[in-house]
Amino acid sequence: MDVSFIGLLLVLAVGLTSADNTNPCFTFYGNGYLRFHLDKFDNSNSAHYSLKFATTASHGLLIYSEGLHGDDEALYIRNGRLVYHLFNSSPSGVEGYFGAHFMGEVPVNTGDQIEVHMYRSFNVTDEVQRTTQEQTGLVYTVGGTTYSHVDFRPRIGISLNDDVYVGGYKQSLSDTVGNFTGQISSIREEKNEALFRTFSLNSGGSVSTNCLTINPV
Ligand SMILES: *[C@@H]1O[C@H](CO)[C@@H](O)[C@H](O)[C@H]1NC(C)=O
Ligand SMILES: *[C@@H]1O[C@H](CO)[C@@H](O)[C@H](O)[C@H]1NC(C)=O
Repeated sequence: MDVSFIGLLLVLAVGLTSADNTNPCFTFYGNGYLRFHLDKFDNSNSAHYSLKFATTASHGLLIYSEGLHGDDEALYIRNGRLVYHLFNSSPSGVEGYFGAHFMGEVPVNTGDQIEVHMYRSFNVTDEVQRTTQEQTGLVYTVGGTTYSHVDFRPRIGISLNDDVYVGGYKQSLSDTVGNFTGQISSIREEKNEALFRTFSLNSGGSVSTNCLTINPV
C-alpha cells in the first residue's frame, strides 16, 4: 500500500476519535458545577444513572437532585468512599417515610477511572433467577472488581424535579461534601435514554467541557 494512503488513514482515525460525541467528558476544579435540564426528562420514581469519574479528592458531589416536598437524592464521595443517599418524604404504605443510604467500602479517590451505577427503584432482571425486581442502590467497579450495595425494598412517590446537578450544587451538602474536583464522563440515565452532554448552567463558567487524556491507552 502507498505510504501516503496509510498516512491519510491515520489522519482520519485521529480526527474521528477527537470528534467522538458519545462520551462527553467534563473537568471540574472544585469551584463550580453543571446543571442539566434535558428535554422530556422524567426524574420521578425510578432511575438508573451511570457515569465514570476520576479524582484524587476525598470529598465531592457527583450527582444531585432535589424535589418539591423536601425529597432529595445524592451520589457523592466522602472520606474517599462512594455514598448513595435518597430522602423520600412521601409515605409508602406501612413502611412510612422511606429513603435509602448505601456506602461503598473501597476507596475511589485513586485517580483511576471508576464506573458507577446508581439505581432508584429501577427494574433489574436477574437472568439466572429469572426475576425482575425494583433495585435501589450503588454498583461500582474499581480496578476490574465490581462492588454492589443494593436492596429491593418497595419505594413509591419519589418526587424529584428534572434539574440534575453534576459535580456540585449551589451549597455544600455538609461541611465536607461540596464541589467535585476531577473528571466526570459518559453520564447517562437509562429510563429516559438520556446522555448528559448539553447543560443548562455552567456555574461561573468554571467547568471545562473536555478532558485531557494524559496516558491514552
Ligand atoms: C462551589 O461552586 C459554587 C459555584 O461556583 C460556588 O459558589 C461555591 O462557593 C463552591 N463551593 C465551595 C465549597 O468552594
Ligand atoms: C417493574 O416491573 C414490574 C413487573 O413487570 C411492574 O409491575 C413495575 O411497574 C415495574 N416497575 C417500574 C418502576 O417500572
